Amino acid sequence: MNVLLIGSGGREHALAWALRKSPQLERLYCAPGNGGIAALAECVDPDPLDFAAVTAFVRAHDIGFVIVGPEAPLVAGLVDHLDAMGIKAFGPTAAAARLEGSKGFTKDLCAANTIPTAAYQRFREADTAKAYIRQQGAPIVVKADGLAAGKGVTVAATLAEAETAVDAIFGGEFGAAGAELVVEEFLRGEEASFFVLVDGENAVPLATAQDHKQAGDGDTGPNTGGMGAYSPAPVMTDAMCALTMSRIIMPTVTAMARAGTPFRGVLFAGLMITGKGPYLIEYNCRFGDPECQVLMMRLQSDLLAALWASATGNLGGLQLRWSDEAAVSVVMAARGYPGSYAKGEPILGLEAAARVPGVQIFHAGTVLRDNQMLSNGGRVLNVTATGGSITEAVKRAYGAVDLVNWPGGFCRRDIAWRALERERQSS
Ligand code: AMP
Ligand code: GLY
Repeated sequence: MNVLLIGSGGREHALAWALRKSPQLERLYCAPGNGGIAALAECVDPDPLDFAAVTAFVRAHDIGFVIVGPEAPLVAGLVDHLDAMGIKAFGPTAAAARLEGSKGFTKDLCAANTIPTAAYQRFREADTAKAYIRQQGAPIVVKADGLAAGKGVTVAATLAEAETAVDAIFGGEFGAAGAELVVEEFLRGEEASFFVLVDGENAVPLATAQDHKQAGDGDTGPNTGGMGAYSPAPVMTDAMCALTMSRIIMPTVTAMARAGTPFRGVLFAGLMITGKGPYLIEYNCRFGDPECQVLMMRLQSDLLAALWASATGNLGGLQLRWSDEAAVSVVMAARGYPGSYAKGEPILGLEAAARVPGVQIFHAGTVLRDNQMLSNGGRVLNVTATGGSITEAVKRAYGAVDLVNWPGGFCRRDIAWRALERERQSS
């Protein structure tokens, strides 16, 4: 089968790497891809948001399956469009992608189905939002309703900060995504990322993972798309996974099916593990980035077959096999990220770094120009390694990071610190 993968990040590089192992795969195309993906797939032009161009490409290249990585084309309805043309695609329809596309939609779904989540109210006007904030007190959380590239959430320590966030959202900082907002209770606990493949009715959990959202060591500094990830996540014990499935995931899958908008694809629950069990912080309708990178390193089953089963309603009874090894991914980003940063800087040493045992380097934002690998984004490389323990995987990943010669880059030095502390205590 010929496959078209949509996306350009480290997530898509890891998906391409895993898809390549499938005996069913014939040609692999990626739109638009990046400098690393180019070694595994033919990088092609069609703009994922130009549905007619995607369809024309699919027809011209005898594509049997389209796999959509990022949320924007999903929320915009790419899968609906492909469905209508009779083209099989992995990922939710626009109606199901509202689980990521509208925070208010998801909060209402939780309320209607007693799914544990922070207490909340939805607002369309600044005055009423601010009155509610003053009544609740700080700390409190303010979120733009729609997609805001991870920047629409303010965890406010003070009332003033929360009110400033309200003004920014209604002042148009996030465009249409800020026509409405959600104010919610501040939750305390440890965060985890929980992924399930869903076929509309059945849900199959993937291995557990955790990421690091903040740019600086010690989980300090501004929020980013994710500065590193590891799998497994010790906080997600078998019991915690079972509670997440029964209290959060299955009620959601059932409610979406009952509403006539069944969810197919990968459902990514951002969780807060509290003293009272798992709470839903938010849903995403796609793989996490960089969580996907560590999951793909551990997946032993055929990824293409699993995604196909999700898209065609055949996940019932599917069991995924995972390596017992741990995996860790360290994001190398351009200095300045998540603010402004330079592009087009040469990156050397990649071959030597990739030779460290257990290491795979996934490219998140690179471009190959005149045989030179250049930086081409904020998050640029995902230096990923497996090992017999998190401790070993971390050592290998940073061993490889230190062989990359890119003076304009930086990374966090403490990825997986929680898991490392737990391993130290138990040894
Ligand atoms: P989100 O984009 O909704 O995942 O929010 C981004 C980050 O803000 C999360 O990963 C959490 O660290 C934090 N956050 C969001 N909602 C809450 C909440 N209700 N309580 C505490 N922290 C939160
Ligand atoms: N790493 C979190 C995300 O993909 O949203």
